Formats: sequence, structure tokens, C-alpha cells
Amino acid sequence: DAKDETEEYKEVDEREKMPHYEQRKWEEEQMSSATFRFGAKKKEAQEEYDLIIDNQIEFIQALSLPGKKPPKEPELSEKERKKQSIAETKKSLPIYPFKEDLIQAIHDHQVLIIEGETGSGKTTQIPQYLYEAGFTEDDKKIGCTQPRRVAAMSVAARVAEEMSVKLGTEVGYSIRFEDCTSQRTVIKYMTDGTLHREFLSEPDLASYSVMIIDEAHERTLHTDILFGLVKDIVRFRSDLKLLISSATLDAEKFSGFFDDAPIFRIPGRRFPVDIFYTKAPEADYIDACVVSILQIHATQPLGDILVFLTGQEEIETCQEILQDRVRRLGSKIKELVILPVYANLPSDMQAKIFLPTPPNARKVVLATNIAETSLTIDNIIYVIDPGFCKQNSFNSRTGMESLIVVPISKASANQRAGRAGRVAAGKCFRLYTAWAYKHELEDNTVPEIQRINLGNAVLTLKALGINDLIHFDFLDPPPHETLVLALEQLYALGALNHHGELTKLGRRMAEFPLDPMMAKMLLASEKYKCSNEIVSIAGMLSVNSAIYYRPKDKIIHADTARKNFFVPGGDHLTLLNVYNQWEASDFSTQWCYENFIQYRSMKRARDIREQLVGLMQRVEMELVSNPSETVNIRKAITAGYFYHIARLSKGGHYKTVKHNQTVMIHPNSCLFESLPRWVLYHELVFTTKEFMRQVTEIESKWLLEVAPHYYQPRELEDSTNKRMPKAVGKSRAELGEH
Ligand code: CDP
Ligand code: MG
Repeated sequence: DAKDETEEYKEVDEREKMPHYEQRKWEEEQMSSATFRFGAKKKEAQEEYDLIIDNQIEFIQALSLPGKKPPKEPELSEKERKKQSIAETKKSLPIYPFKEDLIQAIHDHQVLIIEGETGSGKTTQIPQYLYEAGFTEDDKKIGCTQPRRVAAMSVAARVAEEMSVKLGTEVGYSIRFEDCTSQRTVIKYMTDGTLHREFLSEPDLASYSVMIIDEAHERTLHTDILFGLVKDIVRFRSDLKLLISSATLDAEKFSGFFDDAPIFRIPGRRFPVDIFYTKAPEADYIDACVVSILQIHATQPLGDILVFLTGQEEIETCQEILQDRVRRLGSKIKELVILPVYANLPSDMQAKIFLPTPPNARKVVLATNIAETSLTIDNIIYVIDPGFCKQNSFNSRTGMESLIVVPISKASANQRAGRAGRVAAGKCFRLYTAWAYKHELEDNTVPEIQRINLGNAVLTLKALGINDLIHFDFLDPPPHETLVLALEQLYALGALNHHGELTKLGRRMAEFPLDPMMAKMLLASEKYKCSNEIVSIAGMLSVNSAIYYRPKDKIIHADTARKNFFVPGGDHLTLLNVYNQWEASDFSTQWCYENFIQYRSMKRARDIREQLVGLMQRVEMELVSNPSETVNIRKAITAGYFYHIARLSKGGHYKTVKHNQTVMIHPNSCLFESLPRWVLYHELVFTTKEFMRQVTEIESKWLLEVAPHYYQPRELEDSTNKRMPKAVGKSRAELGEH
């Protein structure tokens, strides 16, 4: 048996000098046949690949020959050339030959499932085909949802470019806190969450002629809920076309859900991808990534590299180490263009990943999961897959939510590998063992609806008048206890009455595209006369990238600057202080620079704040200010976040009040050293331990004031205080003093 095992492994070609890896023969049966199709196409593919390589060599030679200039095409202006190349690219996409058939199928059926490989042109082309076919006449729009903000923005930008229009005119996008559309917009990309909210103002989607639920295979919470909502709508809006588009795998399931809607398959074009596994598990996958990138760069033919990391921090670390090593190698290696991409990266930086790689250089893209299916970067030949992703997870027993790094599923691993075979034969380096792949990875990723807090979703559904959530038409229903917990939480927040119906407060909360706790905090600020302060805090908390700038070479300065902002009371008030000081500087860039604050994050906080102020006006809330009353500000925060309370226990650890979970104050918190007895936290992050991030000191009696139906006085008695007199009493008794 052991022998068979080893024979399955093919040693890597000596010439390639890749001692880290062993190659495993492609096991087609492990993959869904839909995911990786080559077979008959292989020869054709090889020829095409040879052609690409030949062209590349010729091109490079042309450039490097001294005195010989590359041939010029003087007849075409830059703009015309760009236009021509866009037209060519459009024609080369796998979806192009099916344009007419597809439009016909859409005319023939109200609901259509569209399945095609990532990169085949579904997201960018289908809305344009529909536009050309007249689906936007009669003042109706084509909508297309994306699970991710970055994807919605970058795809809209791309389509605007392809159609030679300015982004935000005919083609636009709408994401939470940012609407880049206008009266003229006919193709609108948006996040699934945004469409979910649009139902509140337009329950029949009357302004759309076609709705595309794109990247359906991602199965985000909002996409899953949209399935139920749109299924209902097509029943009474016979003129609305519904397209469910997905990369692979789930088409049959979607078809089943939508009353056996037909499936339109776009044949894939996929080149073979060789998979390599590490022989032993990697202790430090960031380091393993860096080593692998450099090995590929030094030993493999040109072609870009895509690396999958779990988040911004990891990407930045990897980028730093890599840049440092590249610098030290100097001219010994060819140019390596290092580009990060993650959700919070400013869009001009994101755009860079789509620029062509300079000749004789290699591009390496350090990406989050976003590059798995939502974004297609051309010319990727090598993929490095450490096998992890960041996932929202939720414990329905404790109600605790946290963002944790987890192993990916086999389906994800294969999707990632597939990214290497889009333009030519590729290679995928998995930083885990073949054994781990086979035995440790789950087959499929669990849909989000089954693993996250449903508070926000339930609130929106209730606001849509959907009262019976237990019988809502879910593709995969959430666990019963998660649903019940969400209902309980909304009840405790005062958003639902004891019949489970939306209260007046709940209706106002639903107006805000915020987590119910934050919405409650905002609304409670009215009572505590500090809405102006709370809305700034909400804006700051909603910026999910870093506020403080901490460059490696100026850590001490940066930390001193950060500490200068600390105010008594905790991190929420500190965030408010940062915002207020920035405002006092007239929102200056220079001020940010001098104080080690990220200007972009602040600008976003200000944008969000402004949006929220607009929404506050809509629910007739006044903007009142009381900056000296920090107790009231903290009480308003507590009114929203009374679920997130922990009390000091032994050894600087904290225990959450309701579930007695051990948590700690994050080292970046201004309360890290002072350890107050009672704290409120904004969120938990799990790294080495469960850390509370954005922590504020509170008094336990406030909990009885803001959530009397949730807390009993007994729970809030201070165990240390209680034990002390008893212990003293006892010792006194023992001493016979009574
Ligand atoms: O949706 P699907 O995965 O089927 O493909 P797509 O996103 O429509 O991508 C089609 C083509 O457009 C790919 O070759 C992408 O590289 C290209 N594209 C681009 O160049 N820039 C973007 N921002 C988005 C797509
Ligand atoms: Mg797509």
C-alpha cells in the first residue's frame, strides 16, 4: 500500500529545482468534471499556448535588440488602439460565441441558470449583451449583484470602459455607503446586501427588467436570502427576467430551487494545471509563500503568480518580507512586480492588478479570497495556495461571533488551482500535503447562512413584512437555534415585540444599513442627547481598515502618536477624539500625516458619517451634542452593545457575562494596561486568543438601566465585592469576635 502511495507521487523534474514540492498526478476523479475540463481541448490548448509563448519571445526580443525599435503603428491613436484591443478581448471570451443563443434563451425563459468557468465573461458581458438586445428600453435597468464590494466596483469600472462611458453614468455601481449611479444608469452592479436593502424601498424591483444574481455559488448570506425574495417576485412580475449565474458546481441545485429552471452552460476553456503539494506541513505559511514565490521566479518560465492569503495584515506582512528579499537579491533576479489586492484597498491601487505586466518582468498578486472567483486577473500561470481563508463564524450557543482563519474546502482549493489554467497550462503549489487535502479538507464550504449571526438579515426580512421566518423559502435553511437566537436578540434590543412583530424602534433600526446593535446605539443616542458624538463613533467603527498608521521603520513614533489620542473611558471615546481633532484641523491630510493616522480611512469614516446623518434625518432624529458628558456617550453605546459585556476575572483575563467565555483586551486598546472591572467590546477577534477589540469601560448598573429585560441584578453583582465581606465575616467568626 505504502509503495502504491509513493508511486502515485511524481518527483519534480530536477531541472525545475523545486525541492519543497512533490507533484501529484492530476486526479480528475477528485474534481468535479465541470470544474476542470480539458481532454479533447488539450491539443488545441497546447497549440494556443505555444503561440502565446512564441509571441512573447518575439516581443521581448524585439524590445531588447539594441538600436532596433519595436514596430510602430502610427495610424492608430492611443484611444483607438485601446478600443480595438477591448473589442478583440471581448470577442475572445468563451461566452462570446454563445451571445445569440443566450439572448434567445433569456427571451424564452423567465428564469435561467447560467453556469460557466470563472473568467468566461459572465459578469462583464451578459449585462452588455442584454443592453444591446434592448432590455433597457422603457426606462428599465439591468441589475447585477456581487458578493463583494471590490468586485462590484471593479467590474463596473471595467464595463464602463468597455462601453466607453464614464463610470456612474450609463454604467454604475452601488455598495453600502456609496452610490455611484445616476438617472442615466442602465447597467447597475451592486453588492447582494445593497439589493437586499433595495427591497425595502422597491419590493417588486419595478425599475429592473433583468436581475442577475451573480457569483451565486459563493452562497453569501445576502445572496441566499435574495434567492427566496426573487423567487417570490418572479411569480407576480412576469416581465422580470431572472438570471442566476454561478461559476460551477451548484447549477443543478439552483435549478431545482427555481422550479427546474433551465441551465445554460458556457463550455469552459481550461488548460491543464499541475498540482504540487508540500511533503510536510508548513509551520509558517507566509514564509513558505515568500520562498515559493522566489523559487518560481528564479526557476520557472515567465508568467504571473497569484498567491491566496487570508487578509490585509497577512498580505502586508508577506509583501514586506518579499520586497525586502527582492531588494537584497538586487539585479540577480528579473523584475518582480508585487501587487496586493484585498477588499479595503483603495480602488486606484486595485486597478493596478489589471495592468499588463512589463516585458521580461513577472507580476505577483497577493490576494484574499476575492481572487478565487470574483476577480479574474489575466495571465496567471502559477498559483500558490496556503489553504486558508478568513471566515465569519458564529457560535449559536454563546451568541459569539468572530472572524477566524480556517482551512478552505476542496471545492475552494480546486477553484484556486483553476486560476492557473486560464490562459495556458499552469501550476498550482499547495502549501499543504496531499494527505491533508484528501483527509482534512471538507468537500464544500458551508454556506454563510449556516454559520453567521442572522440579526441584521432577520431585521430586514421583518421590515419587508416577512413574519414567518421558519417557513421562509431558503435554499438551505439556517440552523433553527441561530434563527431563534437572532429573534431573541432583536427582542432584547427592543426591535421586536413579544409576538415577534417589528416595533416602532425596530422599524427605525431597519432604516440603517447597520448591524442591529449599532443601529440601536445610534437610536439610543437620541435619549442620551449625544447623537452627534455617537454618529461619529459609528462612522469610525464602520471603517473596517486600520485608522492608525504604523510603518515598520517608525513604530515608536507611531505608537506615541496613537497614545496621545487616548482618553479615559476607552477606545470608543478615543476614536471620537481622533475624529474630532481631525475635524478641528479642517479634515487636513497634513494633520493625518503628522499624527500617523490613515487619511483614507478617515475620509471613509467621514463619508459614512454623512450618510448616517442623512438617514437619521429620515427617521427624524435630531443631531444633538454634549461632548463633555462622556457617561451619556458610553451609556448610549451600552444601549446597543449590552450583549458584548465582559467582567474582569483572575490574571487580567475577562469572562463574558452571559456565557462565561474567557476573553482578553486587545493589546492595541487604550485599556490594555488599566484593566477596568466591567468592559464593553465592539467585536471579538480570534488570533492566538479570543481578543476584544474596541473596548470601553462601563458601570454594571448601566446594564440594568439600558437592558432591564436582559440583565438580572443578581448577574451583575460583583463577585469580588461579594466574596470579600463574606470572607472577612467568616474569618472574624473564626476568630471568635462575634
Ligand atoms: O464573470 P466571469 O468570471 O465569467 O468573467 P468576467 O469577470 O466577466 O471576466 C471576463 C474578462 O474580463 C476576464 O478576462 C477578465 O480578466 C476581464 N476583466 C478585466 O480585465 N478587468 C476587470 N476589472 C474585470 C474583468
Ligand atoms: Mg464573474
